[in-house]
Amino acid sequence: MDVNANDKLWNEDRNNKFRNADFQYLLAELCEMYPNKVVFSTSFNIEDQVITHFIAMGRYPVEIFTLDTGRMFQETYNVWSATEKKYGIKITSYFPDAKEVEELVKKQGINGFYESVENRKECCHVRKIQTLQRALKNKKVWITGVRSEHSEYRKYMNLFEWDDKFQIIKFNPLIHWTTEEVMDCIRKNDIPYNSLYDKGFKSIGCAPCTRAIKEGEPYRSGRWWWENSEEGKKECGLHLK
Ligand code: ADX
Ligand code: SF4
Repeated sequence: MDVNANDKLWNEDRNNKFRNADFQYLLAELCEMYPNKVVFSTSFNIEDQVITHFIAMGRYPVEIFTLDTGRMFQETYNVWSATEKKYGIKITSYFPDAKEVEELVKKQGINGFYESVENRKECCHVRKIQTLQRALKNKKVWITGVRSEHSEYRKYMNLFEWDDKFQIIKFNPLIHWTTEEVMDCIRKNDIPYNSLYDKGFKSIGCAPCTRAIKEGEPYRSGRWWWENSEEGKKECGLHLK
């Protein structure tokens, strides 16, 4: 595979070429090319659980980590624990900087993110973005569970991308998978999943900023639901270019 960390041109051709390529084959190649430099971030959503399953079953040397914002659902912690038990793995927890969180809460209050988009983005910045920066330091490949079905914005994301913000190759193995394909894989392999999916939740983030949605509503409409989606773009910044 002709992937080169210095080559920032993750162009259409390359992405089309690998569009239907086997995820495990690519994973093996990347691990060989960048030993101990391939990492996977999980928020324990259905896509992440599928990826964790493949990494754990294939025993790929990939660090699996989560950004524990401190505001996650108990159900999310439950699937975290169930996943570690089922696969006999440890998922690394990255926690936000304590001082920064203390300052944030002092400044905007414990639920300040409901008051303005700026406050919400600041909270995401402290609790997620800065923490992710630490987790990705000195790494070469960042695996994520984003899918094009998630939103208009993600429709244009590719299997491989150069992430300028985090200066890393981003690998989105399930980018072209449908929700049905993901759920099928979960069922067939008996992969643990967040019980909130059975209660109408689709895209799951922090507890105070996520709610269940109705059938037919956009996939990410339960995230930061009080915001006008144009204003907030329904992104926390992890995947914004
Ligand atoms: S977010 O940007 O809106 O929060 P989303 O919840 O759709 O992202 O998840 C997309 C991908 O981003 C996940 O598959 C995962 O790779 C990564 N991600 C999102 N939140 C976290 C988190 N708290 N910890 C680790 N990875 C995360
Ligand atoms: Fe803060 Fe909500 Fe962003 Fe979580 S999703 S980091 S609680 S604003």
